[in-house]
This record gives sequence, structure tokens and C-alpha cells, in this order.
Amino acid sequence: MNNLFNAARFIEDGPALAAKRTPHDDASHAVVFDDVGKVFGGRRGERSVALSKVQLSVRRGEIFGIIGRSGAGKSTLLRLVNGLEKPTSGAVRVNGVSVGALDERGLVALRRRIGMVFQHFNLLSAKTVHENIALPLKIAGVPKPAIDTKVDALLELVGLSAKRDAYPASLSGGQKQRVGIARALVHDPGILLCDEATSALDPETTQSILALLRDINQRLGLTIVLITHEMEVIREVCDTVAVIEKGEVVEAGPVWRVFGAPRHDATRALLRTLVHDLPADLAARVKPLRDAVPGETTQVLFDIRYTGANQNEPDLAALSAALGGAPGEGVSFVHGGIDRIQGHAQGRLVVAARLSVTERDAGSFDRRVASLVESARHHANHVEVLGYV
Ligand SMILES: Nc1ncnc2c1ncn2[C@@H]1O[C@H](COP(=O)(O)OP(=O)(O)OP(=O)(O)O)[C@@H](O)[C@H]1O
Ligand SMILES: [Mg+2]
Repeated sequence: MNNLFNAARFIEDGPALAAKRTPHDDASHAVVFDDVGKVFGGRRGERSVALSKVQLSVRRGEIFGIIGRSGAGKSTLLRLVNGLEKPTSGAVRVNGVSVGALDERGLVALRRRIGMVFQHFNLLSAKTVHENIALPLKIAGVPKPAIDTKVDALLELVGLSAKRDAYPASLSGGQKQRVGIARALVHDPGILLCDEATSALDPETTQSILALLRDINQRLGLTIVLITHEMEVIREVCDTVAVIEKGEVVEAGPVWRVFGAPRHDATRALLRTLVHDLPADLAARVKPLRDAVPGETTQVLFDIRYTGANQNEPDLAALSAALGGAPGEGVSFVHGGIDRIQGHAQGRLVVAARLSVTERDAGSFDRRVASLVESARHHANHVEVLGYV
């Protein structure tokens, strides 16, 4: 099995590729986008800028996610990696080799070393599972016994040995995608490109395909570049994420950091499906300003965020002690939730502290709230007052 799936072979590929390697390339990167731009020209001379100034590096062996709105340029970015599109400026280097410098023969060799998986599987309906996977090997002139050995090994890898002679029409979406993945691996690629590979699947099937991708990433040392519009997919399997917006990379980094503390509006907009927004009834009751009446209690809502900057889980006892005051005052957990991404706790808790307001508090009340925020900050990455109820 190991020989069949020798991902490292790509790096050691023939002398023709090695000769074109640029000396400045970081040896630990499988794909480097170096100031890449892509402009499409229309038939009537109009120009559409699909990508500009893209600077990204994909580390060898990682799962690299690309997110962005429809039309942001994600597929174009991916198609530059295997030379299906050519950049209009800058360079894309795969294992140090500039894709733009390859001739036809070089491109064919490159594409064998880069597998691609599609949203709609692209299987041939008149061919069996085995024949679909075998086809690229047949085209490459591999002898039949070697093809059979290889296809059977791949079927086992993706858990589809029982469907060897079935036709695509009789398979579920998840099974079809397993065939698509097996077919993408026939030439032992070092890199796998996935364009919305799980977008046509239900959540449970998505999970099983993601588990398969994670498995082959670890078992074969495969570098995976994955496009999706589903934030859960990124959270589930990616090590690194890049956000692209109108053809530009607006943010990139480890998933736990980008998701925990997004810096760009586009990222926040995309992440809205994941964050715990305030429920409408609570939002309607929250006032931005306090109207603390002496002799009564006021509820202060604190927005407490865990960005994954440290790996500790929220310590509710410490947090409650930090926000709690005198007897009769209490701290309650109102809303929110915590996820774990790559072992980093992140999420948001909305906590209400009931504070009594005394006669002489009028002026000092704000100072007291500020000092509560200050002490709560020892137990969370970000604390602010959301409002008063
Ligand atoms: N062959 C082409 N000719 C002209 N314009 C193109 C071509 N391919 C892509 N574009 C344009 O480039 C931009 C980026 O397209 P791309 O397909 O990369 O977006 P995307 O992020 O993959 O979108 P989606 O999420 O909808 O798949 C779009 O404005 C698109 O219209
Ligand atoms: Mg696309």
C-alpha cells in the first residue's frame, strides 16, 4: 500500500520539473501563490478581474480551506494550481515549480500529481465504479493487472469494495463522492484539490466524507486544498483558512485564530452561520444605556468571548466570582455556547449579573461595572458590556 501511495514521489519528480525549481521556494510549501492576478477578457473586450494580488502558501501535508462568497474567485484560484487557468500576473508554484513555465508534457505530468474532486462527482454513468476509477490509468497505458490491483486498493481505502461492479445511478451521493475521491487518487497525487466536494451532500454524509478526507490526509500525507461555502466544513477539517472577497485574500491563518477573532467584515459575515447571536426576545429587551434607579437592582449583560487564544475551557466558577458582587446579587448564564476548534475553546457566553444600586452608587456604578469587566478579563479573551436589562 505504501508504495502505491507514495506522496513524496511528487517532490522527487523527474529532472525536467526539478530544473525549473526556483531557489527561493520554501521547501515546506506544496503550493505558493506569488502575487497572483487573473483577469478574464470577454468577447466584446470587457475585462473581469477574478483575482488580484493573491499571496498565499499552502504547507505540505496540511488541509487548507478557501472560503468566500459566490463569485469571489475560489474556483479560479484552485484551477490555477493544476494549470487549468493561467495567471495574468504573478506565479503559481507547485513544489517549487512554476506552473506557467511548464510545456504541455509538463502540464500532463503535473495534473497526474494533483487529484481533483468536484461537487457533482463527474462520473460516467455507463461505466461501473471500477471502470470509472480505472479510466485515468487506462488512458495512461497502465497494464490491466496493475490497474486492477490499484483500483481494488483504492476501493478499500474509500470503503467501497462492495460496490466494485455497481453503476453510479445505484449509488448514494456520498458513495458517488467516494468514487470521485478514489478516482482522484489513482496517480498517487501529492495534492488533492476539492471544489465544493460536500456541497451536494446532507450533513451526515458530509461528515463521513470529511472524515475520509482527514483520513487520507493523515495516512497518505496528502496536501488538501478545499473550497467550500460551508463554515462547518472548514471548522471540522481544515488547519488553515483563507478568506477571499472580490478576488482578494482579505484574511488567512490557522482556523482557530481566524474563526475565533475574525478581522475582516467578509469573514464575520461568512461566520454569522456559526456564531451564537442573541435571541430576538432578549435582544428586544436589552437597552444600550443603564437606567439604574437607586434602591433597585439592575441586570448587566456581559458579552464574553473565547477566541481560542489559549486552550483553557471557560472556568464558570471563576467567571461567576469575577462578575458577582454582594450577597443577593447573582450571575446567570443567559445565552451562548462553546465550540472546540483544533483543541482551542471558542465561542461566546452572554452572562447577566444582577447588581443592586445604592443611593450613592449613581456615580460609582459605571466604575463598578468597569471593574467587573476588568476582573472577568482574566478568565476570557474578550469581555464587554452588551447592555442593561
Ligand atoms: N472562464 C471565465 N470567463 C470569464 N469570467 C470568468 C470565468 N471564470 C470565472 N469568471 C469570473 O471570475 C469571477 C470568479 O469566479 P469563480 O468561479 O472563481 O468564483 P467562485 O468563488 O468559485 O464562485 P462560486 O462560489 O459561485 O463557485 C466571477 O466574477 C466569474 O464570473
Ligand atoms: Mg466555484
